[in-house]
Amino acid sequence: MPRRGGTIQKRPIPHVKKVLAVASGKGGVGKSTIAVNLAFSLAMQRPPSLGRRIRVGVLDLDIFGPSVPTLMGLQHADEPPLTSTGAMLPITNHGLPTMSMGYLLPKSGPGASREDAAVVWRGLMVQKAVQQLLFDVDWRDGGEGPGLDVLVVDMPPGTGDVQLTLGQLVAVDGAVIVSTPQDVALTDVRRGISMFRKVSVPITGTILNQSYFVCPSCATPHYLFGSPAAFRSIAASLDVPVLGELPLVKGVSVGGDNGVPYVLTSSKEQAEEDSAGGAVWRNVMQEIAGTVWHALKEK
Ligand SMILES: Nc1ncnc2c1ncn2[C@@H]1O[C@H](COP(=O)(O)OP(=O)(O)OP(=O)(O)O)[C@@H](O)[C@H]1O
Ligand SMILES: [Mg+2]
Repeated sequence: MPRRGGTIQKRPIPHVKKVLAVASGKGGVGKSTIAVNLAFSLAMQRPPSLGRRIRVGVLDLDIFGPSVPTLMGLQHADEPPLTSTGAMLPITNHGLPTMSMGYLLPKSGPGASREDAAVVWRGLMVQKAVQQLLFDVDWRDGGEGPGLDVLVVDMPPGTGDVQLTLGQLVAVDGAVIVSTPQDVALTDVRRGISMFRKVSVPITGTILNQSYFVCPSCATPHYLFGSPAAFRSIAASLDVPVLGELPLVKGVSVGGDNGVPYVLTSSKEQAEEDSAGGAVWRNVMQEIAGTVWHALKEK
């Protein structure tokens, strides 16, 4: 528990080697979508230095609006089982373990998902919930074995209690800041970066999401929300690398709603509909995963 005045000791997350936060200053820019797809893109890599695939999990720290359960197709999952020592075991789909407040909330009625249950907590209760999600989960497969190489943490929007609690309690190895090209989102990039810097979290880089739309008939990128120049210059002025610029792709949104992250979808119809933009999205996501892994490894 962070205490005023006293020195706060940062603790490791049990059975997790590297922690990567996915954050943004503004809501609705695609953090959760990117967090989940990045986790799978990382999990598909087989770095020579490891000689095996990267073991990845996703922690949803959006206490008030958890969306990882839906993105993973787990909105009707049962409560997490407990180990003999009382730790929660993650819930897995598509081979990737996850934990979310969404699995712990009471369902609001028959057929309802837990995400429907509103959370009206403040202050200490939020901190307590964040602490449990951080330290009371056993990320090993079934409570045994080697644990995770990387835990991707999906953050709530903005720069509030949850971000501070994470930064103060855990040695976070990197943060990815997501933005969209609109002015209002860009203004918040600065705030997001300075907040993480205040709690000594290294910024791995930024991602510009919904940067452009690739027209299926002409294959030309259209910058619907303005040029990416402003974003690139903000990133440069803050000395933060741009990890990638992702297009707007219908299938990304459809995949999220259906609980099948876009980097896993194999639907031919969807690929045809998304045309070049869909392929670009996957490729950029793979490149981002490669860069992120190298940055984390060096920490
Ligand atoms: N590149 C994209 N192409 C198409 N749709 C996208 C893209 N990125 C995000 N979306 C859609 O935008 C919506 C918001 O995305 P998401 O929930 O990931 O944002 P968020 O930043 O996590 O939001 P919040 O701040 O509420 O947590 C979702 O419906 C998602 O499917
Ligand atoms: Mg989200």
